[in-house]
Amino acid sequence: MFQALPEQPADKILQLMQMFREDSRSDKVDLGVGVYRNAEGVTPIMRAVKAAERTIWETETTKAYTGLAGTPEYNDAMVGLVLGDAVPRDTVASAATPGGTGAVRLGFELARNANPDVTVWYSEPTWPNHVSILKYLGIPHRPYRYFDAATGEVDAAGMQADLAAAKAGDVVLLHGCCHNPTGANLTADDWTAVIAILNDKGLVPMIDIAYQGFGDGLDADAAATRAVAAGCPETIVAASCSKNFGVYKERAGILMAIGHDTSIRGTTQGNLNALNRMTYSFAPDHGARLVSTVLMDADLRADWQAELEAVRTGMLDLRKKLADALRQETNSDRFDFLARHRGMFSMLGITPDEVKALRETHGIYVIGDSRMNVAGLNDRTVPIVARAVAEVTR
Ligand code: LMR
Repeated sequence: MFQALPEQPADKILQLMQMFREDSRSDKVDLGVGVYRNAEGVTPIMRAVKAAERTIWETETTKAYTGLAGTPEYNDAMVGLVLGDAVPRDTVASAATPGGTGAVRLGFELARNANPDVTVWYSEPTWPNHVSILKYLGIPHRPYRYFDAATGEVDAAGMQADLAAAKAGDVVLLHGCCHNPTGANLTADDWTAVIAILNDKGLVPMIDIAYQGFGDGLDADAAATRAVAAGCPETIVAASCSKNFGVYKERAGILMAIGHDTSIRGTTQGNLNALNRMTYSFAPDHGARLVSTVLMDADLRADWQAELEAVRTGMLDLRKKLADALRQETNSDRFDFLARHRGMFSMLGITPDEVKALRETHGIYVIGDSRMNVAGLNDRTVPIVARAVAEVTR
């Protein structure tokens, strides 16, 4: 039987992680997978998370199952973190998931349960796993224009024109902030225009928000998600705690389904519970418990926010330094967009051959589409990377 198994296409992010691991050069630089690293190149456990872990270790009395949708403390805390007061709580059905990926998958499956004819529209480009999951689930999917490689900015007009071709009941997958892979984000006016199209055409937004707090701040990064949830009758939100709580391997995420018609909330919640049950029964609890412990304790929450803010401003600083260094090295403003982009990533807009030369000649690893993880840089590597990018693009 196994002989009949198809070869699976490699995920380009995981493939690059493997290549980096196998590279024996000591001065190699990993700007591939989206993991934050501090100046020492370490992905630290955040102080508040460590403290929460200690509290849990001391006070937890059982490992018995939680609920199918997760614990109410975690779900409430996360709904508050992401949605704020944008919508009444009784409009939100939610389920804890294994990481943001689990939430994305649950969201797609929920959409298909509700509308077997759904087409999911995704930004071109998007996080590769979005498309992989849609393909695997057999859900029809179509790209909308998003990135203008010439300017390094969003092609808002192209995006709006493409979305106008979607049919009522289709789902539009949007990145809440810190677009992955491009780093280019919609302006508040663009979001207003998108919300108008969603409502005119009867489209359902699904927002993937995996980097809240990495762009312009916790609330600023959630502003678009909140505006959509308040402004559209139904919204699906997939959120991840991997990055902003640094709990990557613990797999903590959440899927929220917001419906202004509260009479169907029970059925929506029942679908989320059933989908969790049929996939893995109960989502993992440890990461979720770390998150809710931090969010529900005023001191831990304040400390977490302060540390996250330092990570965010550090990343902005690296963006600026890299843009400045590239301006000097290339004698042009070609890479100035790096300072304007937000979040962990920026698409450099260099060719696959140039990406290959960066890797093979300079030991600098960025994804094949030229996505760079800015959080993988530090003060020592910024000039090295700038010189190498200038050299390969000369
Ligand atoms: C990324 O985009 O690098 C991260 O979200 C990690 C992943 O799972 O791909």
